[in-house]
Amino acid sequence: MSLVATAGGDALIVARADGRATEAAREAGSAPPTAEVAHVAGVAAPVLRLEGVSLSFGGITALVGIDLAVAKGEIRAIIGPNGAGKSSLLNVVSGLYRPDRGVVRLGSERFTHVPTARLAAHGVARTFQNLALFKGLSVLDNVIMGFVHRRRAGFVRQMLSTPQARREEAEARAAAEEVIAFLHLDAVKHQLAGGLPYGVQKRVELARALVARPQLLLLDEPLAGVTLGEKQELAAHVRNARDAYGTTIVLIEHDIGVVMGLSDRIAVLDYGRKIADGTPNEVRSDQAVIDAYLGVAHEGETELVI
Ligand SMILES: Nc1ncnc2c1ncn2[C@@H]1O[C@H](COP(=O)(O)OP(=O)(O)OP(=O)(O)O)[C@@H](O)[C@H]1O
Ligand SMILES: [Mg+2]
Repeated sequence: MSLVATAGGDALIVARADGRATEAAREAGSAPPTAEVAHVAGVAAPVLRLEGVSLSFGGITALVGIDLAVAKGEIRAIIGPNGAGKSSLLNVVSGLYRPDRGVVRLGSERFTHVPTARLAAHGVARTFQNLALFKGLSVLDNVIMGFVHRRRAGFVRQMLSTPQARREEAEARAAAEEVIAFLHLDAVKHQLAGGLPYGVQKRVELARALVARPQLLLLDEPLAGVTLGEKQELAAHVRNARDAYGTTIVLIEHDIGVVMGLSDRIAVLDYGRKIADGTPNEVRSDQAVIDAYLGVAHEGETELVI
């Protein structure tokens, strides 16, 4: 196993070491969806809902019968060991992958394959596990790019600089300036994105995803690869974004300490199955989760120590 606690004991980075899951974890993966139903029953129509989503690549099973419901304004973490299917799940929600079975609901829309090109029109934005910035553009221009889909003026009108195109240009710039200030990026906004420290680039990605004020924001490891200080800072920005804009956020993160402090609810994947879904306290003491992370059954062990 590999459990790494920070000096302060407030963050625990967990990775699978032996690649095995216990039978208990596997059985829990097929648990009836009663907890999910109970959770959703108490809230308004979920912003995002997956029903029985399965996905495989040739012989490799990435997702098995995933049910998931994310309430409006919620910060929902997706955790699990490497290869558990976390990115695949976000890729299904954002339409990059077409599931073999199941349905994705975005608000009142129902999809068997989410149309990636129309994702923004459905109020969804995402970031990727690996940075996907335009390194040769300034921070400001990168963030403006996140607004592009909101523009109605086509390429020709933009080239001819029609009044509509100019109005939209000004609107995009104003929205970018606002989110740049919100994420404390003012000092670097005219610098090239590629020359900035990694942690700052992650913040620029967040700004670009937020600029069009999505209803649903999908973040694939937004805190990965940065220092602990930057991680706490980025986590605070994610929470502030939810609080200020009411954005519903689904995020993948390996650092259990940060996840526990940031999320309202946590879904745990293991070998493509959802083995747990609940509040940080519920998940922390879930034996199937402990087993999945430790790769062994532990008699008498009842909690992930954070
Ligand atoms: N495009 C693809 N082609 C083939 N196999 C894939 C593809 N995408 C994912 N997989 C496989 O699906 C499984 C789940 O991968 P996924 O990337 O979703 O895991 P993850 O939980 O995001 O892992 P990590 O924590 O390492 O990012 C893995 O076995 C992976 O190799
Ligand atoms: Mg991944």
